[in-house]
Amino acid sequence: MKKDQVVNCQFSVWYPLFKKHTIKSLILPLPQNVIDYLLDDGTLVVSGSTENSHQCSQTNHSDSEGEDDVQWSDDETTTVVTAPEFPEFNSKVQEAINTLGGRVFPKLNWSAPRDANWIALNSSLQCQSLSDIFLLFKSSDFVTHDLTQPFLQCSDDSPDPVINYELVLRKWSELIPGGEFRCFVKENKLIGISQRDYTQHYQHISKQEESISASVLQFFRDNIQHQFPDEDFVLDVYRDSMGRVWLIDFNPFGEVTDSLLFTWEELTSGNSLTAGNTEDGPALQERPAFRYTTSEVTVQPSPCLSYRIPRDFMDLSTGEDAYKLIDFLKLKKGQQESSSEDEADPHVTST
Ligand SMILES: Nc1ncnc2c1ncn2[C@@H]1O[C@H](COP(=O)(O)OP(=O)(O)OP(=O)(O)O)[C@@H](O)[C@H]1O
Ligand SMILES: [Mg+2]
Repeated sequence: MKKDQVVNCQFSVWYPLFKKHTIKSLILPLPQNVIDYLLDDGTLVVSGSTENSHQCSQTNHSDSEGEDDVQWSDDETTTVVTAPEFPEFNSKVQEAINTLGGRVFPKLNWSAPRDANWIALNSSLQCQSLSDIFLLFKSSDFVTHDLTQPFLQCSDDSPDPVINYELVLRKWSELIPGGEFRCFVKENKLIGISQRDYTQHYQHISKQEESISASVLQFFRDNIQHQFPDEDFVLDVYRDSMGRVWLIDFNPFGEVTDSLLFTWEELTSGNSLTAGNTEDGPALQERPAFRYTTSEVTVQPSPCLSYRIPRDFMDLSTGEDAYKLIDFLKLKKGQQESSSEDEADPHVTST
């Protein structure tokens, strides 16, 4: 994968070219002080979040130096942290959110904070304010990857292209996971289509295999082929309940992109792909290989699970579940009592 391929998959590069086939979105340049705030591990506190301060228990005493807007007031038991404010940027973001109907899906140049949805109160990437966005972004490794090492897996050793970081706000749309597909395009040919949410079996996909594959191929031929600035790329699409296909995203053709039900070895080998679900008859040879999860496959864990922390831990630290907290305190008390009894034991035996 080349650095140019990564550059071409930035939202602001492809969005103007394919605007009418995708979800309405707005792009705002990210000011440097906001980038610095996103990269600062110390403050998870987000602006305007006093009422949500239970989400913000991560503190760091070592590197508050030079951050005028972070105030520390330390006593034995509590640490009060005030989040930095970005009034000008905040009002631009709020205006954009309002223009998009009040609820948005946020991402950076390439990535959405898909690994952080568990931290939001609504367990979703739906945001209504800049503080919602900050909470997700600051908790996401995918967002940090965009900011710190977007060219990590590139094979060329030319200097890294300069990146202008941007906040992408997309109108919130209720996408049904069974309607999402990832398409692999090599030398401007659509070679493979994979169900995007491969952890589930969707009955309608096996029933409508032919028509899904045909409509995605038609969409690609009519609207994408030879129009993207690269000849190898990965394209995500959504087929709505009316059968209309929409563009969701472009991704680089290479290991950084999840190959889902294919492997990168297969995709790059040059051998023709098999569908993986049905026998490929001669009539299907011109069709891309289409792979989906069949009913025989047992339900698989969510791919982002490893980014989470245990639910109990969240509930305890946020005080969301009072009963869990009471049980936890009882457990602690019990442990203390039994350890003080243990301590007493030698004393008892020695007398
Ligand atoms: N506008 C939207 N409203 C609601 N949900 C959305 C929206 N756009 C995308 N999604 C959901 O979020 C998921 C991830 O979106 P997207 O592909 O833009 O993120 P990404 O970071 O580029 O992901 P990947 O790393 O897999 O390429 C999509 O599969 C879809 O389910
Ligand atoms: Mg993507």
